[in-house]
Amino acid sequence: MSTTTWLITGTSRGLGYEFIRQLVEDPTTIVFATCRTPAKADKLHALKPKGKLHIVQLDQEDKASVDAAAKEVEKLLEGKGLDYLLNSAAAQYGGNDTALSLDSQQFMDTIKNCVLGPALINQAFIGLVAKSNKKVIMNMTSGLASIALDCGPKNASYSIAKTALNMYNYKLAKERPDIIAFVMDPGWVKTDMGGPGAMLEPEFSIGNMLKTIKAATEKDTGSFKRYNGEPIPW
Ligand SMILES: NC(=O)c1ccc[n+]([C@@H]2O[C@H](COP(=O)([O-])OP(=O)(O)OC[C@H]3O[C@@H](n4cnc5c(N)ncnc54)[C@H](OP(=O)(O)O)[C@@H]3O)[C@@H](O)[C@H]2O)c1
Repeated sequence: MSTTTWLITGTSRGLGYEFIRQLVEDPTTIVFATCRTPAKADKLHALKPKGKLHIVQLDQEDKASVDAAAKEVEKLLEGKGLDYLLNSAAAQYGGNDTALSLDSQQFMDTIKNCVLGPALINQAFIGLVAKSNKKVIMNMTSGLASIALDCGPKNASYSIAKTALNMYNYKLAKERPDIIAFVMDPGWVKTDMGGPGAMLEPEFSIGNMLKTIKAATEKDTGSFKRYNGEPIPW
C-alpha cells in the first residue's frame, strides 16, 4: 500500500480542519495537522483517523515556530518526503477596510500573516517537498485577490495581501520548476472567516479542492484555480 504524506496549516478550525477531516478518512495517508495551539485544538483531537494523524504546533507569524515544526515533521517522516504542502492558514486583520481607511498596523499584520507566513513555511519545508513523489505546494488565496474579477473597494488589506501571495507563488514556481506550486480560491465558504451567509459548505469546497489538488501535474504550476479546478483570471 503506497502512502501519501500531507501537511496542512491552520487546522484548528475552518477549511484547514475540513482538509484534515477528509484526509484522515483515507488509510493510505500520513497527515500533519498544524495549528497555533494544539492543546486547544479539540476538534482535531476528537478525530478518529483511519490514516496516521500527527498534530504539530506551527504559528506562521513566528519563524522559530515554523522552523521547529519543520524539524519535528522531518523526524516523524522517517526519511520520507512531503507529497502535499497546503498553506490554508490566514487571518484577515484589516476586516472590511478600504484603500483610504486601512490601518497601518493591521495592514502590516495582514501582510506578515498572509504573505510572509506561507513564504517562511515553504522555505522551511521545501527540502521535504522536493524529496517526495508528488512535490505539490498549494498556497490558499482568494477570489478577492483577482483584479480581473473586479470585487470593488472592500477588504483592502486582505485582498492586497492575497494578490501579493499570488505573485509570491509565481516567483516560487519560476524558481523551482521541479515543484508544482499553485494558488487556489476555495470559493465563499461558511467558516469563521466566510461567515454564516457564505454560499458553500466546507465539505463541498474542500472535497472539490482535494480532487483538484490530487490531479495536479507539472502543467498546473504557477496557476490560479477555483476549488473545482477552473482557472481564475488574474
Ligand atoms: N472562508 C472563505 O469564504 C474563504 C474565501 C476565500 C479564501 N479563503 C482562504 O481560505 C483559508 C482558510 O480560511 P478559513 O475560512 O478556514 O478561515 P478561518 O475559519 O478564519 O480559519 C483560519 C485558520 O487559520 C489559522 N491561523 C490564522 N493565523 C495563523 C497563524 N499565524 N499561524 C497558524 N495558523 C493561523 C487559524 O488558527 P487559530 O484557530 O489559532 O486562530 C484558523 O485555524 C485562508 O487562507 C483564507 O484566506 C477563505
